[in-house]
Amino acid sequence: MRLEKIVNFNRYPIHEPNSSIIKKLVKKCKQELDQFSCSTIPGFILPKSLKIMNEELEKQIHQVYMSKESINPYLNSKDEPLLNKDHPKRIFSKRDNGYLNSDLFKKDSEMKYLYEQDELLKFVSACVGISPIYRWADPLACHAYNIMKPGGVLPWHFDSCEFTLSIMLQKPEQGGIFEYCPDIRESGNEKFEEVKKVLNGNRERVRQLELEPGDLQIFKGRFALHRVTKVEGNRSRYLAIPAFVLDPWRVNTPEHSRAIYGKVLPIHHERNVKRSDGLID
Ligand SMILES: [Fe+2]
Repeated sequence: MRLEKIVNFNRYPIHEPNSSIIKKLVKKCKQELDQFSCSTIPGFILPKSLKIMNEELEKQIHQVYMSKESINPYLNSKDEPLLNKDHPKRIFSKRDNGYLNSDLFKKDSEMKYLYEQDELLKFVSACVGISPIYRWADPLACHAYNIMKPGGVLPWHFDSCEFTLSIMLQKPEQGGIFEYCPDIRESGNEKFEEVKKVLNGNRERVRQLELEPGDLQIFKGRFALHRVTKVEGNRSRYLAIPAFVLDPWRVNTPEHSRAIYGKVLPIHHERNVKRSDGLID
């Protein structure tokens, strides 16, 4: 079984969801996700598998799309001049960040394989306490590798998928710290005033998380504002970002896909409809 060479089954036997170890872990993750929108599982990926993922990325590093476009928290780069000048939709920050898009992954990719296993899907579903959840239909974004080179930043934003996993592949020498504000918006309520406070530097709601290589983070990225601080030193930060969603049909908007992943496919136009949760993408 290939999965047992990827996930540390000794510590985390996700193929045995009814085992007491997993039941206990799921309970802990759910509590953390309910309280902080975020939970971390240390050493989830085995070192050998981690090495394979790093090699996969480095082999295709020339195909990474680096996006340096300034974006607002809704991952949009278009201004809306009719809104007040200090509206969060009009606050744009510098972004310097890249993706190896999911459609470029080789057929036998380690990351792609892990993403497609029902054991992982069911485990995440149990941790977030929602069933069913689905793999993301977006062919570019569903299990991309994220790259932040020295000097790179990822400004405050919300994800368009509901549940984002992050697996740290390679840590930078310094910086590249994940910061997040749990539950800042909810379905039908953007809470622009709260978002504005954070964008203006208020730290009251901000939490920090330091991931080590092999750690798995489960995160409610659609509802928690988050960012990654500047990567310092000479080593790039590599992260795998497999994502799960509530709607198996929806994909990124064409504008989002263009700005972040560097291209738009027919599926992004065909499925460009208003979101059922009423939140801005
Ligand atoms: Fe994000």
